[in-house]
Amino acid sequence: MNKDVIIMAIESSCDETSVSIVKNGKHVLSNIISSQIDLHKKFGGVVPEIASRKHIENIDPVISEALEETDMTIKDVTAVAVTYGPGLVGALLVGLAEAKAIAFAAKKPLIGVHHIEGHISANYIEGEFKPPFVCMVVSGGHTHLVHVRDYGKYEIMGKTRDDAAGEAFDKVARSIGLGYPGGPKIDNISKEGNENAIEFPRSYLENGSYDFSFSGVKSAVLNYINQCKMKEQEINVPDIAASFQKSVVEVIVNKTIKAAKELKLDKIALAGGVAANSKLREEMKKACEKEGITLHYPSLVYCTDNAAMIGVAAYYEYINGVRHNMDLNAIPNLKLSDRF
Ligand code: KG4
Ligand code: ZN
Repeated sequence: MNKDVIIMAIESSCDETSVSIVKNGKHVLSNIISSQIDLHKKFGGVVPEIASRKHIENIDPVISEALEETDMTIKDVTAVAVTYGPGLVGALLVGLAEAKAIAFAAKKPLIGVHHIEGHISANYIEGEFKPPFVCMVVSGGHTHLVHVRDYGKYEIMGKTRDDAAGEAFDKVARSIGLGYPGGPKIDNISKEGNENAIEFPRSYLENGSYDFSFSGVKSAVLNYINQCKMKEQEINVPDIAASFQKSVVEVIVNKTIKAAKELKLDKIALAGGVAANSKLREEMKKACEKEGITLHYPSLVYCTDNAAMIGVAAYYEYINGVRHNMDLNAIPNLKLSDRF
């Protein structure tokens, strides 16, 4: 009898169709990611209807590839896990319908996973990082400062009141003509710019708040560009990108460090697509070193959307007895506190 817990995980909440086979919540046996970036690029962002249709086309081949890479069949899988929220409803439904069909036909338990819990759990794949810690989840759709008390036990300390961090990167990139997805483009071009060239606002909100707001800095960039145009001044894209990035990173780093100190925790993790940002990694590392805090972040492939992180999160749900029924539905605005 195989005692290993083998999870087949499916992620389709946005524009990546991904399937992964994960052993014992740690070992990623396969992690196939089919990205739709090129398809959505020409529209400047993800078009939900197109994303859903593409997931339908991709899902079966991606599942076959994930199994083939491990030389396993569905019979070797302990449970089927799937992201059921938050995300685009049509996109989520494709993964969910597929997961339910496989779980039903193969008589395997079904485990629904919260997408953010997946991002946080990406930190358990490499190294020996364990709770408790403070996790800064920064992605295209979310900005959450989370106290991870234990596996599967979360307390949200703060979140964005308007745009998500990644959304701000994407919108600013579009306004300076860098295209989609903007995060990596701003990251790259900032290396050629002067981050002190323009003083964009930093929004700390009221004293002691762990919430975020990025719409102010986004508007400040737009105003700056308009002013340059009116004055017929040259628009220095690398300087704007670097100055914008600096202001966003500074707020994220300061709030995360403050949270860890307040909770007397000596561990911080980053998660989500924006955790791939080189400036954020560098500044968080410096700040953590200064405070004697251990910093962990996933490799790039586990920062942006992938199914391996869903398989890891599902393992802890599985050993805690979480099972979902066939009536599990996609919940586009699922809260971390509402899951199960
Ligand atoms: O986690 P993710 O793949 O999808 C969501 O769950 O939203 O995050 C995608 C976001 C996009 O906004 C993208 O621009 C941003 O992550 N991103 C970055 C970088 N790489 C991806 N933002 C800043 N710097 C990067 N290097
Ligand atoms: Zn994500």
